[in-house]
Amino acid sequence: MALWAGRFSKEIDETVNAFNSSIAFDARMYKHDIQGSIAHAAMLGKCGIITEEDSRIIIKGLGEILEDIESGKLEFDPTAEDIHMFIEAELTKRYGDVGKRLHTSRSRNDQVAVDLRLYLRDEIAEIRGMVHNLCEVLVELAEKNTETVMPGYTHLQRAQPVTFAHHMMAYVQMFLRDLGRLDDTAKRMNVCPLGSGALAGTTYNIDRELTASLLGFDAPMANSLDGVSDRDYCIELANALSLIMMHLSRFSEEVILWCSWEFKFIELDDAYATGSSIMPQKKNPDITELIRGKTARVYGDLNTLLTMMKGLPLAYNKDMQEDKEAIFDAVDTVKLCVKTFIPMMETLSVNAENMRAAAAKGFINATDCADYLVKKGMPFRDAYKISGTLVAECIAKGLTLETLPMEEYQKMTDLFTEDVYEAISLETCVKGRLSQGGPSPDAVAVQIALAKAQLEA
Ligand code: ARG
Repeated sequence: MALWAGRFSKEIDETVNAFNSSIAFDARMYKHDIQGSIAHAAMLGKCGIITEEDSRIIIKGLGEILEDIESGKLEFDPTAEDIHMFIEAELTKRYGDVGKRLHTSRSRNDQVAVDLRLYLRDEIAEIRGMVHNLCEVLVELAEKNTETVMPGYTHLQRAQPVTFAHHMMAYVQMFLRDLGRLDDTAKRMNVCPLGSGALAGTTYNIDRELTASLLGFDAPMANSLDGVSDRDYCIELANALSLIMMHLSRFSEEVILWCSWEFKFIELDDAYATGSSIMPQKKNPDITELIRGKTARVYGDLNTLLTMMKGLPLAYNKDMQEDKEAIFDAVDTVKLCVKTFIPMMETLSVNAENMRAAAAKGFINATDCADYLVKKGMPFRDAYKISGTLVAECIAKGLTLETLPMEEYQKMTDLFTEDVYEAISLETCVKGRLSQGGPSPDAVAVQIALAKAQLEA
């Protein structure tokens, strides 16, 4: 018999019950549901809405239920409507009328809203720790590779020289922003809907400040209609998670490229790659491809939430039960991906020689060749044209700017002297890029120091 059976003359149809039930996916919030109920019961007792004695029994009973769930003694009833009804019914089974007093001055609408905030607050803290850890791993990788010259690309064409450290630190910046977004989300969502009731508050003399502070919220939510119908925090979180996935996915794409025989810039540890069922030579970067693929589902989750909310009148509507599977899936997926990505990055080996060899091809010092003339007084546009003409000549003759004879240089302008070879050497090109944020080892050392300070803060 449902807890709401009073108004009904029939049992709910079995198919409808199964359709309506959310326990299959909201049972994971059991701990937070109990946490919320304990705070509510404590407040009811303090405010004299139920007796102190009943409050004490309820709190004790909820603690016992929590223990029994965790020890496996109490199993979730798959026919229960949701985790909230299940726990309340269990409390009543154990403590009769006292259990029936728990839901005084509360609705499942504010209950589920508080549970979800509590649950996601913990998940955000966990994801935050994982992304933080990822940043540390990348900083470490950067520290080992400040001199590892590689080509930087635009349009996936070799462009100008950078280092592997510089490249890693770019991702660190992205993930640091992700941490900031998680913090913003956590901060904004840390307000308490409990006491909003079904939608219109309550006639009981409740203390919302008390429940909010007992549950570690910064304040009660200011409006009860908003309290039960706000899911902005789910959407904000799904957005932050989508950006994490976007960053992981771009990174994955690069790892996939770098593992290919065409690049061979890195090699994944055997424990973090997979083979083929037919091609004995294959070593596939499946992890990164899966991350790239799973990015789609997190974007999908974000879209589900946005679309689910877009036409809903105030206040609670059952549509909102759909929030959970979407946000849980996004949370689970990000955790799974980061957890796998970290050790993969920790164990990969860097092929510095191949990176350097690739950087030595593709005329990535052509800008430096032009800059050489600019430093001797030539306007940049003229210098650019000369450098481009020399590149075309090299391509025609199968040479590089480093191997092009001096007389060819001097045919263009007598500003070129022997020191041009030094000026366009890869080392000079990288070390000379000292500008703030640039790839020179010194400039990257500053980036590393700043990132470390941010990570420690
Ligand atoms: N299982 C519901 C949900 O997840 C709980 C709230 C239901 N409230 C209601 N009045 N039907 O949204």
